[in-house]
Amino acid sequence: MKAKITLSKDKPISEIDRRLYGSFIEHLGRAVYGGIYQPDHPTADDMGFRKDVLDLVRKLGVPIVRYPGGNFVSGYNWEDGTGPKDQRPKKLELAWGTVETNQVGIDEFQEWAKRADTDVMMAVNLGTRGADEARQLVEYCNLDTDTYYANMRRKNGFDKPFGIKLWCLGNEMDGPWQICHLTAAEYARKACETAKLMKWTDGSIELVACGSSSLYMPTFGEWERTVLRECYDVIDYISLHNYYGNRENDTASYLASSVNMDKFIKTVAGICDEIKAEKNSEKTVNLSFDEWNVWFHSNEADKKIPRWSYAPRQLEDIYNFEDALVVGSLLITLINNSDRVKIACLAQLVNVIAPIMTENEGCWLQTIFYPFMHASLYGRGTALSTEVESPAYDTKDLKDVPYLTCTAVDNGDTVTVFAVNRSLEDAIELDLAGFDGMKLISHTVLTCDDMKATNSLTDPDNIKPEEAAVSDSITLGAHSWNVLRFKK
Ligand code: AHR
Repeated sequence: MKAKITLSKDKPISEIDRRLYGSFIEHLGRAVYGGIYQPDHPTADDMGFRKDVLDLVRKLGVPIVRYPGGNFVSGYNWEDGTGPKDQRPKKLELAWGTVETNQVGIDEFQEWAKRADTDVMMAVNLGTRGADEARQLVEYCNLDTDTYYANMRRKNGFDKPFGIKLWCLGNEMDGPWQICHLTAAEYARKACETAKLMKWTDGSIELVACGSSSLYMPTFGEWERTVLRECYDVIDYISLHNYYGNRENDTASYLASSVNMDKFIKTVAGICDEIKAEKNSEKTVNLSFDEWNVWFHSNEADKKIPRWSYAPRQLEDIYNFEDALVVGSLLITLINNSDRVKIACLAQLVNVIAPIMTENEGCWLQTIFYPFMHASLYGRGTALSTEVESPAYDTKDLKDVPYLTCTAVDNGDTVTVFAVNRSLEDAIELDLAGFDGMKLISHTVLTCDDMKATNSLTDPDNIKPEEAAVSDSITLGAHSWNVLRFKK
């Protein structure tokens, strides 16, 4: 089949915020313990961080990592993770039914982030706690004053403030599964007062208020309106979370997941602008899609985890090839909406629904590692407008899903096109317009005949990108992720 991409260089979508390629580490499963931190591992550094993991995180080029949750944060006392390690309390962790040893806390994590060349996006507990603890944590992390919490940080060995600039006002407070879940009105008041105090403590921080936990929450829409009406002036972003999965083993429908992500983003952006108009405000509230990924493979296995385990294998989805195509098309959607989505976090980074997996023997890369790495490396710059003419198909729920989904990024000397061919049968012969004076210099492809094929510790390179021959005609193979780089 044939499809055409027309590039409009003079009508860019937006400069892409580097934080679009963020990720997430929660105190959950083996993300922290046995993931980023394993003091008895042969690669452990002086603080117990696995250097093999640090190398891979740097390879991904993740600019910001959300921490410490997730559902975990809604029952977390941040002070438990500070001070001498042998005096830190071991606690029941109610969000995931495990035991938290607190051997890693904000002191260690901000140090890990430095070593990983990334920034911290910190979440505060608006479940069991509130404004007071949140402002104390901001003081602990960011202030240079001669006052109690800044001095507590110094006493713990950190003279210089951590300088954490981006903060989440709780996590998924719309969800009944959340520790101390709130109604929209309750959350809106709590978030607004917390935001005020946090910004009074450090006026340079940016804040993300909780939006809905998915497009399908019963309170979706009204939740956003209520929160925005109350908090508009004190927040900078509203969050979106959504996970995707091929639960019915309907691959054609599954490959169309990004259509729903696009709808979610545009609807929330519309609600932000509706409240902006209502308030006659000059300010625009943008979006933080701070949890997105595929998550469903591990659902059944997780039901069997004994309660109060320590760092169990939890949410360890093993991703197959079709998951990588979905992740690629979700990345394309984020870039195409980069005028409103300024922050996005692939949830998560290590072991827990993650691109990077660890074992004592070493690390291995999941299929989804590759599209994320390509987007993070080559998706920096300006998102350009593209017009796509493509044959389309219908799914159980959607009409006219284009086989070709793509985006183009101006990187300076190069333009990179990311493209997914969703067709399970047919290759696409690509026709390009608006690329005058540009020369294709590389074509990287991720594809596999078996949509369910995976990588593993023993077969780590089963799915990995290959370089296609570069010629005048461009063909996007059936079910493939493509990175086309053009020299200007
Ligand atoms: O990322 C896993 C979990 O998904 C997070 O803890 C929570 O915020 C979401 O429901």
